[in-house]
Amino acid sequence: MFSKLNSLNSRFTIALLLVFVIGSILGGVALWSVLLRYAEQEITNRGLVMIDLITSVRTYTSNSVAPLLKPQQAQSATFISPMIPAYSARSVFEGFRASSAQEDLKNSIYHEAAINPTNVKDDLADEFEKALQLRMQQDDSLKQVSDYTQKNGLSYYYIARPMRVTSDTCLVCHSTPDQAPAQQIKAFGNQSGFGWKSGSVIAVQLIYVPADQVFTNTLRSFWLVMGIFLVIFALIILLINNLLGRIVVRPVLALNALANKVGDDQVSDADLLAPELARVTHQRDELGKLSQVFLQMVADVQSRTHFLKEQVKSLQIKINETQMKHEVAEIVESEFFQDLQSRAKNIREKRQAKASPSLPGGRLVIEKALDARKVGQSLDISSSPFLLSREIPLMNGEGEISRRHAEINFDPAAKQYTITDLKSLNGVKLNNVEIEPNRPYVLTPGVKIGLGSTFLLRFELLQSAPPA
Ligand code: HEC
Repeated sequence: MFSKLNSLNSRFTIALLLVFVIGSILGGVALWSVLLRYAEQEITNRGLVMIDLITSVRTYTSNSVAPLLKPQQAQSATFISPMIPAYSARSVFEGFRASSAQEDLKNSIYHEAAINPTNVKDDLADEFEKALQLRMQQDDSLKQVSDYTQKNGLSYYYIARPMRVTSDTCLVCHSTPDQAPAQQIKAFGNQSGFGWKSGSVIAVQLIYVPADQVFTNTLRSFWLVMGIFLVIFALIILLINNLLGRIVVRPVLALNALANKVGDDQVSDADLLAPELARVTHQRDELGKLSQVFLQMVADVQSRTHFLKEQVKSLQIKINETQMKHEVAEIVESEFFQDLQSRAKNIREKRQAKASPSLPGGRLVIEKALDARKVGQSLDISSSPFLLSREIPLMNGEGEISRRHAEINFDPAAKQYTITDLKSLNGVKLNNVEIEPNRPYVLTPGVKIGLGSTFLLRFELLQSAPPA
């Protein structure tokens, strides 16, 4: 059952609980039997004390009181009861019962039970007592019998002793009615309590001590002791559990958490410096040593993993580099690329040839502009075609110039510059005459080019056109 529980803590708790339950049951059984034995001994002792005491009252009456009262009895018309041992025994016991403060003594019963009693009303034996008397009559060696019994629906512990006719003096009153005193006959009749023989068991002396009360008391002490025992036991178990948790479980859990992280390759330096781990490592016991070894192992694994990772990384870089070189070489050596390269070279050469047809120095001088500071400044026609646009810094901010306003071209065949209006919004004027868009017009030196109505340029040719 323990193997199914996967937390160390709950396994300890269950084990301790089992110890607690089994310990409590065993302890309870032991305690109950011990308490019961003591209780029985206690009842027995009480019964014995009482029966011995009563017996001595009896002896005292017959030896000391009866002789003194004998003369009075002879002259008295009525029976003088105090001289009868049975009477004084009963009277003393009743007095004792009445004055006792203890429940079980108060409810004790003293009985001199006889199958053939003098006092039929009080001393006639019931079935149980009759059986006892017969048993004692048959077995001379039986000096005392004690056990539990039920009487009037209650449970009692009883001690019984045989009563014998010990001297001939008894027989004065217990042999035949005509020998017995007249007062006795008058009080108890002549039918019963006679015919007793010397030495025979004529009655049973019984003391009954209530057992229920004793058991209730025993039970009360049992629960009291058990309660204290359970509380102390529970406290000890809690303490052990707590200590186990602190000394064993928590350190093991900390090591376990670290082991899991190592397994997932997610150990950080903070994990290695966790306070819980530090605490375990500082323990001087086996766990402490174990965790030191474990931490050392983790550190080794860490550094090896790190080293391996670095190696893999550098290997990968090397692989990537060679692969790239290889791929580049493949591309560079391919026919397609070589073809592309030669074509590109061609285009570049043509461009250069075209771009530098050694333009005759054409120049535009600003005559009029919205920004008056620009007037007098000039810009060289550095290429063909040359775009007039508001994106040229000198024309920037001139509201009427379009982004693609006009284009100046050099016609190498005719050796002259032309201007074409690129369908600009505000049009192009040559010497104040509007030109048609998309048609080249020859620029003669000194001609005024109007871009819109606010910007005016003068075209100049610095150098005469190269000879044909
Ligand atoms: C003077 C007469 C007399 C003498 C002597 C005498 N008894 Fe009794 N005995 C009685 C009477 C009367 C009773 C009934 C008393 C009562 O119950 O109040 C009695 C009761 C008893 C009882 C109780 C049972 C029953 O019969 O009611 C026993 C037992 C007993 N006597 C034993 C003895 C023994 C043993 C002796 C001798 C040591 C003895 N007696 C001496 C008169 C006497």
